[in-house]
Amino acid sequence: MRLGIDLGTTRTLVAACDRGNYPVLAFTNAGGDAYDYVPSITAEKDGRLVHGFDAEEAALGKAPHLRSCKRLLGRHGPEHRVSIGSVEVSLLELVTDYLRALRLAILERSNVPREGLDGVFEAVVSVPANAHSSQRWATLEAFRRAGFDVLRLINEPSAAGIEFAHRHPNALNSRREHVAVYDLGGGTFDAALVCLGGARHEVVATAGVQELGGDDFDRVLAELALEKAAVVLAPSDAGWGALLVECRAVKETIGASTRRLTVDLSSLGELAPAEPISLQVTDYFERLRPWIDRSLEALASVLGAASQSSLDLENAAAEAGVAGLYIVGGASALPLVARQLRERFGRRVHRSPHPAGAIAMGLAIAADADEVTAVRERFTRHLGVFREAESGQNKVFDRIFSSGTPMPGMGDGPLIALRTYRAAHNVGQLRFVECGDVTEQREPTGDITPHATIHFPYAKSVRHAALEGLAIERLASDGPRIEERYEVDAAGVVVVTIRDLDDGFARAFTL
Ligand SMILES: Nc1ncnc2c1ncn2[C@@H]1O[C@H](COP(=O)(O)OP(=O)(O)OP(=O)(O)O)[C@@H](O)[C@H]1O
Ligand SMILES: [Mg+2]
Repeated sequence: MRLGIDLGTTRTLVAACDRGNYPVLAFTNAGGDAYDYVPSITAEKDGRLVHGFDAEEAALGKAPHLRSCKRLLGRHGPEHRVSIGSVEVSLLELVTDYLRALRLAILERSNVPREGLDGVFEAVVSVPANAHSSQRWATLEAFRRAGFDVLRLINEPSAAGIEFAHRHPNALNSRREHVAVYDLGGGTFDAALVCLGGARHEVVATAGVQELGGDDFDRVLAELALEKAAVVLAPSDAGWGALLVECRAVKETIGASTRRLTVDLSSLGELAPAEPISLQVTDYFERLRPWIDRSLEALASVLGAASQSSLDLENAAAEAGVAGLYIVGGASALPLVARQLRERFGRRVHRSPHPAGAIAMGLAIAADADEVTAVRERFTRHLGVFREAESGQNKVFDRIFSSGTPMPGMGDGPLIALRTYRAAHNVGQLRFVECGDVTEQREPTGDITPHATIHFPYAKSVRHAALEGLAIERLASDGPRIEERYEVDAAGVVVVTIRDLDDGFARAFTL
């Protein structure tokens, strides 16, 4: 059975390949209610980890829990250790365990088409377009360890683009071969310009707002309801968490024709007013406008990347050859989002009929052997290395791959970059970073993600020593000739092999 799996910060969605259809799977919680997602949450219960709906329930009962392990993976890397109650694990172990539970849930608690079940799950999975190499590697590794056969890793906006192209086969033509993807999720907003021309798909530009999403909308509703009720409650107070759960549920019931909202504040105990609070949807939407405006700035910047145009979105889009603006992400189910975008963007705005599931469906389409679309991704940021000498007093930034460099397609050989030099020190200390920009002085700038520092023994005498912390010393005479070979695969995982060319001694590191 082939699947598309969108491991979200807030929710995980799974779509199946079912004879040319790509249904989003529904999962049943312990109470028997069905949802078209699994909450991305882990909790500790009796000394072990539980995930998804079980964790949601445990968390309501005050069990220690952790949300958004995906965001942590982006920030800290796979070896970072986290504690949930009495359990301590690495992020890689945590995500692996979560995915094992997901695999079991697909088998036992979902409406997965039974006739296609053959014991093997072949999956196409997604990562954020700006995910760095170690996040891509960890995602692949966790899925594999959890028992999925990963066919391919695709950037989230590319997956949305694939779903758009499948749904609107006539929207794209030779003059308009781009789709702007607007993805408003639970905690983050991402905009991307995806090129769907020819047989290849590629992400041309991305921009995002790290802290903008449906969670903010829940909070705005909570604040509005508290104001109406004349109740003062701070986010640190007891009752705030339950109020947010209530507000999220109310928010998700809002449809195009909803006029009034009722927020039940009874979870506040003695602070609660006698009656539930009634609100006008228009008042709520007025408060949300500035949040959506922030997303438009990021959207303008990805359109500008292709057209140099300013905030006139409709024109910028036309100049960038954009066939349509595709709105995905759970939070854009709120009618205000498409409405506000149409005001600025005109008629080429398409909201996915299933905003939360569009990415998973696009992944399933890509997984379907009959619908193979070549996906070619690009580096969305620069990758380079500081080579440190004399304990960091001397450092030079060497850009290995520039932003915009195309990654190899599936089935192509790896993309390779080589560096050769003669070692001058006993130990090579290489500090890798990814960055949005590089200054004229060739220093990384913009949003910078550091990677683990790699140590390589240049001198034979230190080959078996612990290199971390070892004093870096200049060699008395010329050192060995060294080659650094960088290989990037179709998933965007970068492996560097450092080799002593004189005797062939080598070590490989995954960045
Ligand atoms: N019908 C709906 N109306 C309004 N908001 C909704 C609706 N359905 C889901 N949401 C909101 O969508 C958000 C989750 O979106 P999504 O599943 O796209 O997030 P994610 O991909 O897990 O997170 P992120 O994109 O931040 O990584 C939540 O805030 C949820 O309340
Ligand atoms: Mg998402």
